[in-house]
Amino acid sequence: MKSINWTIESIPDLTGKTVLVTGGNSGLGFEAVKAFGQNGAFVVMACRSLAKGEEAKKQLIELNPTASISVMELDLTDLKSIHCFVNQFKENHSRLDILLNNAGIMMVPYGLTKDGFENQIGTNHLGHFALTGQLLELLKTTPNSRVVNVSSMAHKSGVMDMDNLLYENGKDYSPMKAYGRSKLSNLLFTYELQRFFEKNKIDSIAVAAHPGVSDTNLFNHAAPKWLMNLLRPLFLFMIQPASMGVLPEIRAAVDADVKGGQYYGPDGKREMKGYPVLVESTEASHNENDAHKLWELSEKLTGVSFTA
Ligand SMILES: NC(=O)c1ccc[n+]([C@@H]2O[C@H](COP(=O)([O-])OP(=O)(O)OC[C@H]3O[C@@H](n4cnc5c(N)ncnc54)[C@H](OP(=O)(O)O)[C@@H]3O)[C@@H](O)[C@H]2O)c1
Repeated sequence: MKSINWTIESIPDLTGKTVLVTGGNSGLGFEAVKAFGQNGAFVVMACRSLAKGEEAKKQLIELNPTASISVMELDLTDLKSIHCFVNQFKENHSRLDILLNNAGIMMVPYGLTKDGFENQIGTNHLGHFALTGQLLELLKTTPNSRVVNVSSMAHKSGVMDMDNLLYENGKDYSPMKAYGRSKLSNLLFTYELQRFFEKNKIDSIAVAAHPGVSDTNLFNHAAPKWLMNLLRPLFLFMIQPASMGVLPEIRAAVDADVKGGQYYGPDGKREMKGYPVLVESTEASHNENDAHKLWELSEKLTGVSFTA
């Protein structure tokens, strides 16, 4: 007997909930904001460009005039920006039900964030680590809160090197290797965060998700736009629309049956597309020693400590 698919219709009423989505102006983040807003949540879109955020909000309000959406500036490559964002968020909000750490970049050439971290680990992992740590107080005081980190099938190729996490001076760097490491870091962080919540009896869970291969702007980082447009027809048979790709992260964020430490992805062949189900991540992602070391290193690099 085929089980019933989890779809956009499965989202429960989110009235009264405050949801924060990083990278809410594009791709999967945009679809997530749309879905949360349509189901009654108050949604904050954290965007590195306020102009892009406001433009996306305009489109979302046209689709659903009653949606409650606010746009705030957040640059995950800049610890100061993250700190300012958190201060402002705390000034305006007394709860945080869902933190969806969705923003990301993929396969960019070697480069550094404002704080000198390799760009992909800096944006995809360290930025979200610093954001989560500084929002911990709100997550702790909001009953039944959730943190959802967005990983990727690319985590499978990720290899951790705690002695050279950031590919210092470009040593051993390749765009794919660094993306894989950043997405493996998302999972190591999720599982360690869940253990932190359990150990400290915090009423919050940490969950991970991946979108298979979805049609978004992400691939524009990996190759010039003209090349992507050329390759697009070839990709079309294996990719799914962002409105489908977003379902695992939405399910991880709102399904009442979800448990801390789980990982959701599409149910299709090789998890490339389909409806969201529980999936497995690699053995490397469950390496508690690496997770612990990454946590300590992330605290040291970002200067953000998670205090129970
Ligand atoms: N699409 C896929 O097939 C796929 C597969 C596996 C995993 N993922 C993951 O899904 C997540 C969402 O990506 P997407 O596919 O929706 O790509 P996307 O359309 O390119 O959206 C990425 C979002 O992240 C934002 N962002 C990038 N750098 C940022 C920074 N420094 N500070 C704040 N925001 C920043 C982007 O802002 P701008 O608009 O200003 O650039 C954009 O809003 C990523 O974590 C990605 O790794 C996607």
